[in-house]
Amino acid sequence: AEKKRYLVGGNWKSNGSVTFVRDMINNVLNKMKFEESKLEVVIAPMIIHVPSAKAMLHSHLHVCAQNIAAEGKKAQTGEVKAEQVQDFGLKWAIVGHSERRQHYLESNELVAEKVKRCQECHLTAIVCIGERLEEREAGQTHDVLKQQLDAVKASVKDWSRIVIAYEPVWAIGTGKTASPEIAQEAHEFIRKWIQGSVSDAVANATRIIYGGSVSDANAESLITQKDIDGFLVGGASLTEKFGTIVETVN
Ligand code: G3P
Repeated sequence: AEKKRYLVGGNWKSNGSVTFVRDMINNVLNKMKFEESKLEVVIAPMIIHVPSAKAMLHSHLHVCAQNIAAEGKKAQTGEVKAEQVQDFGLKWAIVGHSERRQHYLESNELVAEKVKRCQECHLTAIVCIGERLEEREAGQTHDVLKQQLDAVKASVKDWSRIVIAYEPVWAIGTGKTASPEIAQEAHEFIRKWIQGSVSDAVANATRIIYGGSVSDANAESLITQKDIDGFLVGGASLTEKFGTIVETVN
């Protein structure tokens, strides 16, 4: 299998302020040391903070949108289109985060539409999938992941611009990380799905990253799992712990 570059993303969600962005970038992010050949790092601030973050971040740190509009044409108050993200010079977008799926009722079909928009605008989409607690307890994890993956398949022409983020909903913001074994098992299932639905080469090359209460304390035990190619970090990405996580992965 070809050796992949790891990916670590910081998803700031709806957090931050002008001061936070400046201090986090100057005091933590721009001071991190990692080898670009081994690791890519992307930061997803709120859209209102994207311009200043992009201007301040060292150029080897990439800025990522947290969401994009599904529709390309009609007027949509409050939405940001993939074209505009591309026009501003970003190359990355998170799509289908479970908070969007849960609280903004994004269906698998809508997420698929967003993935398509990313592909059309040459954005690399970090596509989030993951089961809820009751689904895991009912033994439905694989079915849920399969449905989420099946839905986006037809939207993807260029798999080099897709990253899958496995974020079990019960582990997000709860401090309850999936154990390395549980995470590895899900990642392996996702890789097998890619193998069966796309190809061996794409399965080997696609990065499958883990999200859900990643911290400096558990990063090492997760990243050493065979099918974990990086992280999408929420809470810890707002603190200097993010620097430790990046250095652990590197
Ligand atoms: O997108 C990352 C996220 O959902 C995980 O959040 O706070 O559990 O690291 P957190």
